[in-house]
Formats: sequence, structure tokens, C-alpha cells
Amino acid sequence: MKWQRVKYQPNTPLGANGQKVTASKAHTELSKQAAKEGMVLLKNENSLLPFEKGTRLAVFGKASADYVKGGGGSGDVTVSYTVSLDAGLKALSDYVSVYEGLSSFYNKNVRDQYERGVAPGMTVEPEVPAELLKKARAYTDTALITICRFSGEGWDRTSSYDNGVESGEPMWKESQKVFERGDFYLSDAEQRMVETVKAAFPKVVVVLNVGGVVDSMWFAEDPKIQSVLMAWQGGIEGGAAAAELLCGIGSPSGKLADTFAKTLEDYPSSYNFHESQDYVDYTDDIYVGYRYFETIPGADKKVVYPFGYGLSYTTFKWELERVDEAEDGTLTVRVEVTNTGNHEGKEVLQLYGSAPKGVLDKPSKILLSYAKTKLLQPGENQLVTLVGNVNDLASYDDLGVLHKSAYVMEQGEYHFYLGNSVRNTEELGFIHTEESTRVAEQLTECLAPTSLPKRMRADGSFEELPVRPSHDPDSEGLLTKKEKETIDGVAPDVRFSKGEHLWNNNERRLQFEQVAEGSVTLDEFVAQLSDEELAHLLGGQPNTGVANTFGFGNLPECGIPNFMTADGPAGLRILPECGVCTTAWPCATLLACTWNPEIVYEVGAAGAKEVKENNIAVWLTPAINIHRTPMCGRNFEYYSEDPYLVAKQAGAMVRGIQSQHIAATVKHFALNNKETNRKDSNSRVSERAARQIYLKTFERIVKEAKPWCIMSSYNIVNDYRASENHDLLEKLLRDEWGFEGVVMTDWWTFGEHCKEVNAGNDVKMAAGNPDNLLKALEKGLLKRETMECSVKRLLGVLLKID
Ligand code: BGC
Repeated sequence: MKWQRVKYQPNTPLGANGQKVTASKAHTELSKQAAKEGMVLLKNENSLLPFEKGTRLAVFGKASADYVKGGGGSGDVTVSYTVSLDAGLKALSDYVSVYEGLSSFYNKNVRDQYERGVAPGMTVEPEVPAELLKKARAYTDTALITICRFSGEGWDRTSSYDNGVESGEPMWKESQKVFERGDFYLSDAEQRMVETVKAAFPKVVVVLNVGGVVDSMWFAEDPKIQSVLMAWQGGIEGGAAAAELLCGIGSPSGKLADTFAKTLEDYPSSYNFHESQDYVDYTDDIYVGYRYFETIPGADKKVVYPFGYGLSYTTFKWELERVDEAEDGTLTVRVEVTNTGNHEGKEVLQLYGSAPKGVLDKPSKILLSYAKTKLLQPGENQLVTLVGNVNDLASYDDLGVLHKSAYVMEQGEYHFYLGNSVRNTEELGFIHTEESTRVAEQLTECLAPTSLPKRMRADGSFEELPVRPSHDPDSEGLLTKKEKETIDGVAPDVRFSKGEHLWNNNERRLQFEQVAEGSVTLDEFVAQLSDEELAHLLGGQPNTGVANTFGFGNLPECGIPNFMTADGPAGLRILPECGVCTTAWPCATLLACTWNPEIVYEVGAAGAKEVKENNIAVWLTPAINIHRTPMCGRNFEYYSEDPYLVAKQAGAMVRGIQSQHIAATVKHFALNNKETNRKDSNSRVSERAARQIYLKTFERIVKEAKPWCIMSSYNIVNDYRASENHDLLEKLLRDEWGFEGVVMTDWWTFGEHCKEVNAGNDVKMAAGNPDNLLKALEKGLLKRETMECSVKRLLGVLLKID
């Protein structure tokens, strides 16, 4: 029966033979497989990894016991266990043995710190007792060091740029205490531990349990550290996944989704990240990630590990079979990949393109496509196909240098490169030529900046941008800023509804089920609703069952059930007090590093089954903001610095979720790349950078994966709050990209409900402000048609849920 779960919240398991799927063995196993697929082998001198069978290990670092499965905030989940690296290694006693003295020392130390109230991931690195070090060295010559990091929603990672930053967030203050130079770098205590271990052991392996880019200089060129596995935050089975890879049960096949630079200062987004709490100037423009490091003169020297990089226990060679270009610019590259080593493994082939230098500045390389092989045995080969489009090399001309508001393919030669990182590529003998400059797509001006003073050019200099009259986001509307802020944290009203006769249908109004059956049209159904009912439907609804992020719909007199939402993206998030534990999937950055949309699809489908089994309808997943700077506290929830990779990987997540008739919610739309003061910070960005980098992810996902829901972000974009931004929500999202679903706000924005609905933001979460809508209607500031239109979009999505 349609909406059976939503309406009656039955306690019926979804698995075979009456078994639950939530946190089932099959799901935790899938979580482990996904984790293994996205871990990146950064270094492996003398093939120290995988460990030979029988290797004895001395494991150092409190992170061996304090495993960080993911980040904090809405992107956290309640689990019944996590597997630490220590536990993961011990479970593989047929392969390696672990020096127990160190293991008990760290486990006890971490337990004690937790008992003193220290949060997981924020524990302090203890000194290694000299006696223990001696015994460990007597036990083995092989040391494994592990380091972890934790960050979360609402606060940014700490750095040397924090001077003068006022963050009320306790975790941020905690982090400042633990990490003297910010958490990008090792703390003094960690540094001391690393030095101690390096001095004592001839063989040293490092495992990083982190959610984003960290310093890699302490190991990259140090011959005393032979191997490094970037294990990310791997979810519920993360420690087991890392341990299996270290022991050669599988071969690492992850590739970096972000560039690892020598210092935090090397990222062009760092210097002004904390310039103000009121705004962020995106002066780095389109030069984000490898687009900066591969283009700007001299920046290549700042890279330690390039985008797309990752080693394997085996080696590969590839041979180009053929390249074809179709009339619409579709490029099909066929390449044969052979495993030339002695271990099974998978390789990721990456296709990059470059446009002629021309008049408009351009990055030197752009990712156009990628493909991952199946698991290849030694000697085995596979023909893989990469499909991209040359038009993705077009430049958006925001200032009208060649063709105002158009994507332009400039005259000249376009070259293509194939390889296994942005650096390790070979040019294809295929060139696409534009005889004369051509408009690839004519669009219109949208989201033009008012007060971004300058932006970076391809030679590293800055060009000044025209300044326009600014706009006060809190002008217009009916409420003062203070009034808007008071809604923060307020749950939705429980609306009075008069009891209905249960079997006398004569007086019943048109029912929503009739729309589902097709006997009543959505237009007819919505036409019967009063203004008050429309206003009610455009806000969040009270929680039922295990939900804690509120619902949609809830108009019992017309048969609209209360459809619950839940976070995402780390898994189905249910409050601990409900007693329901779920699967924690690997963090999004790890999922991006799989470069494998199929496994992300599986994670999406499995996650959505847990959502459904718990009678929830809308999953607030995936989060797809660009990794602009390592400092963003929520990067673990986001995928990559590259919009194409984000869109392909997160697009697979959307398709996986929606295959289960559960709504995916792509968030946070848009330019929410900083957490400090996130509800009131103005992201000041050029139209070109917005379109080519920050909105590109959303554009591609909307066009290719067709998500049912989008969540607008808290922040302001070029003077208009994202949730009140007509250019963003109507002109771009709907008119240009053809989005047909529902837009919801992030929870308790500082936007005003009537302005949000007018801008195309359909539903205000967590709670609406129906009075504000009705007052605006009365004053002629809002039209009933606009409300009807939003309600129809909402109901349109609810009709898809099953
Ligand atoms: C977060 C969203 C989340 C929502 C509901 C907000 O604070 O920014 O990502 O989905 O809360 O928990």
C-alpha cells in the first residue's frame, strides 16, 4: 500500500526472511568494502606494504584506539560499535600480530580521556613510556603510526589564521587547545611521538584517519617513513577496512579527490578565509584545487600529492585503442589497461582536457571523464571506455569580453591527456580544433557579484572587478532581523485538526490518495486547499517515530501523511535515545576517492533501505559543496575539489537512494564553504567561478541524476540569502537546469518565509512561519498562485515516495 510506512510506521523489517536491513551484516560489510575502495596508498617504498604474513607490529598513536568513523553534527550517526585500527589488526591475527603492551597502553589512555569528558577524535597524544618503547622494539622492527582528526558542523578546522576569530563553538576551542598550529599540522605531542618512533624503528608505516586534507610533508620525503595509507574516516568498519588493506586482503585503489599541498598557506583560499565573519571573498575564482596548482606559474612546486594520485600494490600499463568525437562534442576514449604487477588491483584512468590560452583565462587542465577497472589479476587486462565532452572545456564569459553570459569555445586547439593522476598523464594524439570562436551555450546574467573586489587570473595576478550597488539581505519583508533569529531551534507547531467521520465519506474532501491513484489531478486537489492550509504545508512538520529532523506534508483532513526527514550523509541519523543503531558509511571524501560510482550507488541504495525501514521518507543526503579550502569544518561530508568528480560520485548516490523510492536531498545549495557564522556570511564570488565550479556540481546532478529535493544553504550569496535568492532557485535551478523537485531551506535559516517562497524556496525547515505567509498574502507581497506552485512541487515529490 502506498505510504504504508509513512502513515502507520509499522515495525516491519525490509530484509529477506523477516530480517532487518538496518545495520545488518550485509550493510556493514558493504560499508567496509566501500571504505577499502576509497583508501589511498600515498607512499610505499620497498613495497613494505602489504605486510608479509607473520609480521609483528608495534602500533603507536592514540588514534589506534580513538577511531574517528566520521565527522560531527548532522553528518554523524548512532552506531552500536566502530572497529578501531587496533581491533581491525587484532582480528587479522593469521596475518599480523600486534604488540599487546602498546595496545593496552593506548586503549586505557583513550578510555581515561573519554571518562574525563574529552570527545572522540579530540584526545591528546600521550608520551610513549620509554620502557614500553624498548619492549616494543624488542618485539619487532616494524612500527605503525596512526593519527586521527575530527571536525564537525558549525565550526571550521583550526589554523594559524584563527587569530581574532570568535567562534562560540566549544569543539573549536577544544581543537585550538590540542593543536598548537591548527589541526592541519601535527600537534607538538604527535610530532614528538613520530620522532620517537622513527628513531627507534627501521620500518615505519603511517595510517591517517582523517576527514580532509592534512599536512603530508612530515612523511612524504622522509625515508624513515616508508609507507602511508590515507584511510580517511571510514565509517563503522573503518579500522577493519584499513587493517585488511595493510595485510594485503585487497589492494588500495583509491585516488585523491583533492590536491595535497605542502602547507595550508599554499592554498589560495587560505589567506583571506578568516578576513571577516561577515563575508568570504572568493578571490581565487576558478583556480580551486588542481586548477590552481596546475595553472598558476610556480604553484606546481607547492604540490606534494596531486589530484587523482594513488598507488596500488600492483602496477598497470595502458594503451590507447581509439578516440572518437561525435558531432555534439562527445568524446569516447577506449583504452586497454593491463595489470603488470604481481598483486590483484584496480586502476583509475582519468581523461583531462585543455583549452587554448585564448582571450579568457583558463585552467591548464580539467577532468573530463574517468573509469575504474574491475579487479584485475596479475597479467589480466580490460578495455575501458571513458566518455567526456569537449564542450566542458568552454569558459563562461561573465564580463562580456567575447560574448557576455555565454559559455565560449575559443578558437584554437584543444588537447587531451590520459593518465592516472592530473600529473601522470600522456597526451593523446587527438586534437579538437575550433576554427573560430564559438558560443557553446548562451545564458543570461545570474548572481552577479556586487562587492567582490578582485579575482585571480591564470598568471597569478588579480584583476579588479566592477563594483555594483550592494543589497541588504535583511531589507524588504515584514520581519526584523531579531524576529527572524528568534525562530532558531523552535520546533514546528502541532496544528489543530478537527476529527473526521471515519466511514461516512460524504463530507470528505478530495484525498491525496486519489491523486496517487490518478482519479483526481494535483491541480484539483490543491485548488480545494485554503490559504491557511497552503501556508501550513510550506513549513516543516512535527516529528513522529524515530525522526528528529521533522517532516513534510501532514494534512490529515485531506489524507496527506506526515513524511519524515532524516540526516545524512554519513548514514541514517537517529538519536541515541531511540535505541536504533544504523550503519555508518565512509565519509563522503572517501567515497569520492573510490572513483567508483557503482559502489557509491550501492551505498546510496543500502542507506535508503535503512531510511525506509525506519519509516522515514526523505534522506538529507548527499552534501556536495566543493572542497575550496582544507579549513572548512564540513569537508568530510563533501566530496572533492573538482565539480565533475563530485557530480559523478554524488550523482550515483542520488540514483542509489531514489532507486528505493526515497527522496535524496542534494545540499547545501550553494557556496556554503565555511562554517563560522554560516547563517550570516556572504559568499562573494564571480559569476564565472560560481557557474564553473560551485554551481557546476549541482547543475550536473540536477541534469543527470534528477534529485527530488534540494536544500538551499544558510549563507548569503552575493548579497542575497541562498534561501531567498531568486536567481539561484528559479533562474538557474529551474529555468536553466530544469529542476522539477522541491527546494527546502536548511534548518532555521535567517531568511523570512514569505521572501523564501517568493524566491522559489518551497518549504521552510525545520518549521515554517504560516502567519508570515498569510500576512504577506494579505498585504499583496505574496500571491496565492506562488504558494500553490510550491505546494504542488512538494506534493509532486511526496507522490514519488513509496
Ligand atoms: C545542517 C543540514 C542538516 C539539517 C538537519 C543543518 O544544521 O546544515 O545539513 O540536514 O541541519 O539536521
